[in-house]
Amino acid sequence: MYNGVIKRYRQYLNIEDDSKIVTMNEGRTLFHKLVNLPSALGLKNADIYIKFEGLNPTGSFKDRGMTMAVTKANEQGSGAVICASTGNTSASAAAYAAVAGMKAFVLIPDRKIALGKLAQAIVYGAKVIAVDGNFDDALNMVIRLAKTEPVTLVNSVNPNRLQGQKTAAFEICDDLGHAPDYLVLPVGNAGNISAYWMGFKEYYENGIISALPKMTGFQAAGAAPIVENRIIENPETVATAIRIGNPASWDKAVRARDESNGSISAVTDEEILEAQKLLASEEGIFAEPASCASIAGVVKFAKENRFEKDKHLEIVCILTGNGLKDTSVIIGNGDAEDKIIHAKPDFDVLSQIIRQ
Ligand code: F0G
Repeated sequence: MYNGVIKRYRQYLNIEDDSKIVTMNEGRTLFHKLVNLPSALGLKNADIYIKFEGLNPTGSFKDRGMTMAVTKANEQGSGAVICASTGNTSASAAAYAAVAGMKAFVLIPDRKIALGKLAQAIVYGAKVIAVDGNFDDALNMVIRLAKTEPVTLVNSVNPNRLQGQKTAAFEICDDLGHAPDYLVLPVGNAGNISAYWMGFKEYYENGIISALPKMTGFQAAGAAPIVENRIIENPETVATAIRIGNPASWDKAVRARDESNGSISAVTDEEILEAQKLLASEEGIFAEPASCASIAGVVKFAKENRFEKDKHLEIVCILTGNGLKDTSVIIGNGDAEDKIIHAKPDFDVLSQIIRQ
């Protein structure tokens, strides 16, 4: 039976032999070659794969890092975890703390996280603290609190988080038999891009893969500190998960970009929402807006002819979170009413609609 990322990749993780592993059998997520998108984008010589991290137990990639962070906190006898979050980290921390029998304190930017994520933190039993500020303010607070209060910080500044998250890179290489040419993903606090790069490099150094991917990150245009090379004081984007102006792993992400000969670019909110619809309508996959920054990025690169045409390419897009967490972007913007036909349950009326 599959038992989660720590058991599967234990040799690459620093876990005590007698450690009690806190797991929800996260990982081993859907890895799937897209059917319609490459030709729709005119990428005849490319395979585009998605890794749907939104199918982890709490609906995002955070569970990979959280199994490590909470296992380690538990190993060290901690009774509580704390994090700042745009929603997914708080959901994951709350769930893993529940499994471990620990308390969870989560600080979220007030009214700026998707409702599904808020519901998760509440139902898993965390103490939810909505702060009048953005993610960066909340992160500064929890870093200070964890220094003096009896709580373990489980944001990605906790190195155990990145250790767990690097297992996604291992899974991609294990499935493909090698690394892809491009690894495309959204960048917010910049932990994930750093973790993937660490994972790919470890496999490379161990001789399991013989080439490394170009790390290709995308930030939302209103929250693109790495692209603009400056702190963004008031980041804004529809992709609330990556509404971050001063990423904690900024330097690591820049190193991943430069060492891999990759890039970190911006995509607009319109491009993100268009990509979300495209992914759903062409491929039947519903990912949250932040995740779709990766698809929007591929669309943008395809339009700008940024992908090599003279060789067969493998492009892997990471879909970091589940679309079901944030339905308001689909339903709540007035778009939905004209997509719905209201009708009586009358055979003639309904058959008329079908025949139109
Ligand atoms: N995609 C989703 C769905 C996220 O929730 C996040 C980060 C990212 C991408 C960016 O990943 O921060 O490692 O660069 N969410 C954090 C949170 C900040 O609190 O849930 P990153």
